[in-house]
Amino acid sequence: MTNDYRNAEATLTNDRAHVFHSWSAQAQINPVPIAGAEGSWMWDFDGNRYLDFSSQLMNVNLGHQHPRLVAAIQEAAGRLCTIAPIHANADRSEAARLIAEVAPDGLNKVFFTNGGAEATENAIRMARLHTGRPKVLAAYRSYHGSTSGSITLTGDPRRWPSEPYVSGIVHFSGPYLYRSSFHATTETEECERALAHLDEVMMFEGPQNIAAVILEPVVGTNGILVPPPGYLQGVRDLCDRHGIMLIADEVMAGFGRCGEWFAIQHWNVTPDLICFAKGVNSGYVPLGGVIISDPIAATFADRVYPGGLTYSGHPLATASAVASITIFHEEGVIDQARALGDACGPALQKIAARHPSVGEVRGIGAFWAIELVRDRSTREMLVPYNAAGADAAPMAEVVGACKAGGVWPFAHFNRLHVTPPLTTSLDDLHTGLAVIDEALEVADRYAAG
Ligand SMILES: Cc1ncc(COP(=O)(O)O)c(C=O)c1O
Repeated sequence: MTNDYRNAEATLTNDRAHVFHSWSAQAQINPVPIAGAEGSWMWDFDGNRYLDFSSQLMNVNLGHQHPRLVAAIQEAAGRLCTIAPIHANADRSEAARLIAEVAPDGLNKVFFTNGGAEATENAIRMARLHTGRPKVLAAYRSYHGSTSGSITLTGDPRRWPSEPYVSGIVHFSGPYLYRSSFHATTETEECERALAHLDEVMMFEGPQNIAAVILEPVVGTNGILVPPPGYLQGVRDLCDRHGIMLIADEVMAGFGRCGEWFAIQHWNVTPDLICFAKGVNSGYVPLGGVIISDPIAATFADRVYPGGLTYSGHPLATASAVASITIFHEEGVIDQARALGDACGPALQKIAARHPSVGEVRGIGAFWAIELVRDRSTREMLVPYNAAGADAAPMAEVVGACKAGGVWPFAHFNRLHVTPPLTTSLDDLHTGLAVIDEALEVADRYAAG
């Protein structure tokens, strides 16, 4: 086998000729060829190093090339590369046991998928079949995947080109005090009013028609929105009142990202279904799934579950999940995420104080957002909602300044997200934040004092 395509030129030439990229106008992108990565760092073929503050779409919670995780995959490949889902498999069984062990009590079965979209897709199928009801409520400012059901659930502009798609999905507004849909000025007001709104949406839709509410317990791409105290319990209570299933989409927020195994555990709320992917095995092999409550699992004890995937519980993927969860336990990864949060919060507050372009910083664990504005008093966004092209130029400049300083950030609309691997050292965290601090001077040029 020849390796002579492993250089910048061949990588880019073949990419531009043959690779069709996600979410892109193909002629307008210029992907940076990455030569390698380790821990919290990645580098290109010219030796430029970047601190990975995006964790590859909030994915590599254990960092790049974690040696124990790599070894586990290598061993699994030597043992058994694939086996159909109809068989029992040691790695799949153990991965399911370990996942159920860290999930809230009463969720004991795992349906494995290849990623997050298939997880949300199957979760709503399970909820609909379990309740016999057609509708699902999903939040605006959310992302749930790009397959037909999951993109319909999604409450951001990525849904628009696919509409109309799956019927019976209705959107509601969740809490977001900084840009309150409810004219609230305190977290308590925001919580009460967001719950009253959801209650009203349920009334208008007919609660007896609603199978599930799906939400990201801490909203990810759409803003790192940490719910006010009491909100998730309030949603749970509304669901319980009407026999509605609560689906926690933890694809991004789960597996330690928020400093708990699952974000919803911060608020001691137990959902009926949990969707996971990404951080379960740091995406080294594609894997996602749905963790299922005992009553929903019982629905399919003597009734066929009408869904499946050739790769459900793939041995390489589940062996890597076993290794990943073992690493979480043995290397104190959840504690590391909390320590990152303890350091990141105050450091970001200091950055906010220095820059007129910073409207708000918020987050939890290793999951933080810097919201950029043109004017702190009006909260006008640095770039408009869903801006593209010239309208988005100020954000592109900020991102460019971060990259020039050696930090690869995640940016969405008018926000920079600070979401490094959970294993990032505090030194690296502060190095990266110093680069962002400097890059924000670019944003300040657009901001009123
Ligand atoms: C909360 C959430 N749900 C679902 C998905 C979809 O996951 P995937 O891209 O693996 O299909 C994502 C992806 O970013 C996500 O953040």
